[in-house]
Amino acid sequence: MGWQGVRKMGYEEYQGLTREETIALPWMHYLYWDGSHNVVVCDRARRGIVHLIGAPQDPNWPKVHAEAARVIDKGREACKFNSGQVNHIRGAFPAEAIGYSHGGGQIEPSNTQHSVRNLKVLNVILANPAVQHISGIANSAYKCYCPNMYEHFKVNDEALRQWKPSLRQNFPKSVFAATTINFGPETITNIHVDSRNSAPASCAVTSLGPFNSHHGGEIVLWNLGLIVRFPPGCTLLLPSALIVHLNLAIQPGEQRFSITQYSAATLSRFVENGFCNDVDILDGSDSTAKEALLSACKTRWKKALDCYRVW
Ligand SMILES: [Fe+2]
Repeated sequence: MGWQGVRKMGYEEYQGLTREETIALPWMHYLYWDGSHNVVVCDRARRGIVHLIGAPQDPNWPKVHAEAARVIDKGREACKFNSGQVNHIRGAFPAEAIGYSHGGGQIEPSNTQHSVRNLKVLNVILANPAVQHISGIANSAYKCYCPNMYEHFKVNDEALRQWKPSLRQNFPKSVFAATTINFGPETITNIHVDSRNSAPASCAVTSLGPFNSHHGGEIVLWNLGLIVRFPPGCTLLLPSALIVHLNLAIQPGEQRFSITQYSAATLSRFVENGFCNDVDILDGSDSTAKEALLSACKTRWKKALDCYRVW
C-alpha cells in the first residue's frame, strides 16, 4: 500500500480529442522543447518532477537513434504478438515488456514470460549497441536528476538480485527492472497512467522516429496542463504512475517507436516487507509487524516528497 500510483485518472473526458483540439485547450501550455538541452519541470515547491533529457552533443547521434528505431521496426516484423500485446490500455500498437516484475498473479518477483520467437527478437533488440546507448543515457540521467530515487532503485535491484539471482538484467548497469519496447509503427497512446509503476519514482521514455516533431508525437502531461514537444532521440523522466499522459498523433506515413524503462511498485514493497507480500503480513500472526506496515502506509507519501531533488 502506498507504493503504487493513481487508479482513477480524472481526464477520461478528453480521450479522443485530436492533436489540434488538445493543443487548443485554453488551460494547456505548449513547451517548445528542441531537445538540444535538458529541462527540469518543477512543482511550486521547486521539486524536480519531470525531466527532459536532450540528445547527446554527438554528431553521430541521429544515426544512433535511427539504428534503435530500425532494430525495433525489424523486430515487429519478426515477432508474433497476442491480442493483449496489440490492444492494451496504452493504445493500439504492439508492445512487449521484458525484465522482471511482480504482481499480476505472480506470488513473488519473477522474470517476464515470452514465446521463444519473441524472446529471441527482444534479446536482439536489447543487445543492440544503439539501444544499450539509449539505456545508458536514461540511467545516467536518472542518477543525476533523481539521485534519491535512483539510489532506492539500485539498492532494491541489488537486494532482489541477491535474493533471487535468476532475475533478468536487461542492461549491465541499469537500475530499472523492466523495459517495454513499443513497436509502433505508430506509437500513439491513449490517455493513461502507468499505475503499477513505482510512485513517485520515474520511468524513462525514449522517443524514436522518423517523424516530424514540429507536427506530432508530443507528450501531454494532463495534470500539469503541459504539452511537450518530444523529438526523436530524446528521453523524458516522468513519474508515470502519478501524471496522466499520452502522445499526440504523428503525420500520415510517419513512424514513432519508443523504449520505456521502469520498475514495478510491488518490487519496492516486497523488499521493504522483508521479501514478502503485504498479504503475508496482514494475514499473519505478528501484530507488531502488521501495525508497523499499516503505520508506514499512512506516511509513505510524505517521505516520498522528500525524495525529489529541489532546485
Ligand atoms: Fe505511459
